[in-house]
This record gives sequence, structure tokens and C-alpha cells, in this order.
Amino acid sequence: PTNHLDLPSIKWIENYLADYEGAVIIVSHDREFLDRTTNTTVEVLGGKLVPYAGNYTYYLEEKEERNLIQKGAFENQQSQIRAAERFIERFKAKASKAKQAQSRVKALDKLERIEDVAQDAAKINMKFTFKVEPGRHVLRMEHVTKKYDQKLIFRDTNVHIERGDKIALIGANGKGKSTLMRLVAGTENPTEGKHQLGHNVIMSFYAQHQLESLTLDNEILQEMSEAGSKRNDMELRSVLGSFLFTGEEVFKKIKVLSGGEKSRVALAKTLISEANFLLLDEPTNHLDMVSVNILIQALEQYEGTFIVISHDRFFVENVATKIWYIEDFQLKEYPGTYAEYEQWQEDREKAAKKAGLPSPSAPKPQPKEEKKVEAAPAKTSSPDQKKALRELAEVEANIDKLEKEMAIYEKQLADPKIYQNTSQLKDTTVKFEQTKKELVKLNDRWEMLAEM
Ligand SMILES: Nc1ncnc2c1ncn2[C@@H]1O[C@H](COP(=O)(O)OP(=O)(O)OP(=O)(O)O)[C@@H](O)[C@H]1O
Ligand SMILES: [Mg+2]
Repeated sequence: PTNHLDLPSIKWIENYLADYEGAVIIVSHDREFLDRTTNTTVEVLGGKLVPYAGNYTYYLEEKEERNLIQKGAFENQQSQIRAAERFIERFKAKASKAKQAQSRVKALDKLERIEDVAQDAAKINMKFTFKVEPGRHVLRMEHVTKKYDQKLIFRDTNVHIERGDKIALIGANGKGKSTLMRLVAGTENPTEGKHQLGHNVIMSFYAQHQLESLTLDNEILQEMSEAGSKRNDMELRSVLGSFLFTGEEVFKKIKVLSGGEKSRVALAKTLISEANFLLLDEPTNHLDMVSVNILIQALEQYEGTFIVISHDRFFVENVATKIWYIEDFQLKEYPGTYAEYEQWQEDREKAAKKAGLPSPSAPKPQPKEEKKVEAAPAKTSSPDQKKALRELAEVEANIDKLEKEMAIYEKQLADPKIYQNTSQLKDTTVKFEQTKKELVKLNDRWEMLAEM
């Protein structure tokens, strides 16, 4: 529900839900919103619904813990499997051990495999580049006034963009952000004022409703190749790979894609254009956290100039070095990151209060509330099963150790020289026999535990 919404509107929903007495299910990628409105989190993962007894922050912490446990269990099982496989390989042809080897084969077949932890911290593995370097001044607009009929959006404002600027344009719904972006792009004309694009500037525009410009009957790869870049299919597939479309997925039709998948295609199209000036109007709408991180990485390595419009504080903080906002029908610039801008706004408001003035009308970030959720620990396997698993690992390790010893004794006994030294022969034979007995016992125990 929070896509496109500005901060005050999100806050309003948060308050509404806090007083709402019914049950609520929310689908959202906005972590702060989720933290303030939910007490249970369900992740859709590998075709299953995985519940967590807490809000989003709890989910993150608990997931990390579960991942650690799963990773440990996975690695443990893998080493057990390797040991069993070694055992089978070694003894399958040996009559005296054939039965044990056979039962290990059975146990291996029956073994419920623990899956490795899925890696979801996707890394972008390509560079979005351009061949043509623009001049120092990317864009100038002077004395711009914009009206829709009688409605004033901008009054005599100036816009100046230099090469390498990384700008985030923020502010409330309806303030005129998208309008300004269209004026910059030149897809709309100002009521008054002039628009002067710099030398060699090549622009690529991701509009707020860009998804609607995708061709529904196209397959993803086809959509990309029609975007007008000169890249071949292999290069396009590598771009799509960075945006998490792999293998056969690139042949999916646009019309069957989810909202976030469509956004990823539209963004990939915008970024491959070899433009040296990007205009991105709310690119993170619909994107999940992994995809937002991909976009952040893409913009971090991009050496051109860009303006992004966004209500996502995390995203803005990570990509922009200049903040633009709209106040009194004018475009204003704060030369710093979002965190610095936030601090500056706070100070400015305090100062205004002290002086008894009304607070400035610039967009105000919401204070962060801390909310702790008590949650029950996650359910895992029963204590008996855990104990059995632990013992199984111990037994396995012992078998491994004894097998190594056996190999040494066997080698010694196979050496003709030992038969000249009776005491050593006796000693080794006794040890060999003992170890063998011990191994039979351990193997039986292993079989029993593996059946559990
Ligand atoms: N073509 C148009 N005709 C009339 N009014 C328009 C037109 N385009 C935009 N407006 C109005 O101009 C104002 C600014 O719109 P704009 O889309 O620029 O806002 P925004 O800051 O991008 O908001 P949001 O955060 O919701 O995307 C709004 O009140 C909108 O209704
Ligand atoms: Mg807009």
C-alpha cells in the first residue's frame, strides 16, 4: 500500500492501523512501515510460507540466527554424507563389509537432505557505462514558471545540474516532483522560462509510470533488445542476470510478470541505454530489498549524472550527494546526504521555533519510533532428534578415526618385515582385532541412529 505514498501519508496509515481492531495482512517491501504495523512476519521462500513471530526487524535477526543453525547443520550433514560415501566406495566390493556398505547406501537414500542457506545478497557484476562524455553543464533552466490552468506548481525558479551530480528530489505527494522531472527531460514545456540542455548530454528517463510503457506481449529479452542499445543477446542476458533474471526466465512474457519484475525490466532498459544523464522517477516502487540493493550498487558504480525521485529514505541516503526539495513554488538544493539534510532540517525547525516563527514547510522526515516485540523462539527438531543427530556426528567421527587407524595397522601387517619382530606383530594384531570389533559396534550404532 505504500508505493507512491509520501511520508505523512504513510504515517497516517500507520496510525490508522495502530487503532484498527481487526486482523490485517500487509504485503510490503517498506521495512520501517512493516516494523511499525506488524507483529508477525511470513516469508515466502522456496514455495513455502515461513512464519516468524515478530515484526520485520525481528525477522531479520531471527533469520540470521536460523541461517547460522541451518548452515551448521548443512555442513555437518555434508561431511557425514562424504564419510558415508567414502565408506561405501571403499567397502562395497569387500565381502565382509558388503552388508554395512549396503545399509549405508540405504541410509543415504533415506536421509532427508538439509538444504544450504540461500544466498540473497545479490551482487551486481557489470558496469553501466557510456561512451560520450557530456560538457560540464548538463542542464540549465532559468526563470521557470509552471502552471496547470490556474494551478501554480513553480514560480520563477532555477535549475542547474553539473556533470557528476547525484541528486535526490524528495517531498510530499503533489508537490511537483514528477512535473519538474518532465520539465528537465523536456517532455513537457514550462509556462515561462527557458530550458537549455548541455553539450553532448544523452538522457534516459524512467517515468513514475514507466511500467505502462512495456510491451505486454514481448518476452523479457525481446523487450530489452528493442530498447535500442547495440548490445547482443549475450550482453543483454548478462544485464538481465544482474537484475535477477536467469536462464529460461528471460523468455517470460511481460504480461505475466509481477509488479517488481516489471520494474526490474523497465529499470534494466533505462540503464543499458548508454545515457550519461539518468532521470529516475520513483524507481524503487514495487522493488524488494534485494532489488533496491542492486539498484543502489548500479547507481554507485555509475559515473554519469542522475536525478532520482524517491520516498525511500534508505535508498536516498545510499545514492545521493545532493538533496533537492520544493518549497514555496521554488526548487531548493541542500548540498549533502539525506542524513545531513535531515539533521539540518531539524536544526532549522528548532531555530524557527525559538524565534517564534512557523516551522518551514519543507518535507519533514518522520521520527523513528522504537518498538520491541516479544516473540517466541522458533520451533526446530525435538530434543531427542537433536541428541540423536549429535551422537550420530560423534559416532561418524569415531568411525572415521578408527578407520584411519585400521588402515595403518593393515599396512603394517602387510609389511613382511613385521613378521621378524614377534612382539610388535602380536601388539599390532591385537590392536587390529580390537579396532575391528570396535568398528563393528560403532557401525551398528551408526545404522541405528541413522534410522531414527
Ligand atoms: N497534466 C496535468 N494537468 C493538470 N494538473 C496536473 C498535471 N500534471 C500534474 N498535475 C498536478 O500538479 C501537481 C504536481 O504533480 P506531480 O505529479 O508533479 O507531483 P509529485 O510531486 O510527483 O507527486 P507524487 O509524490 O505523488 O508522485 C499535482 O497536484 C497534480 O495533480
Ligand atoms: Mg511523482
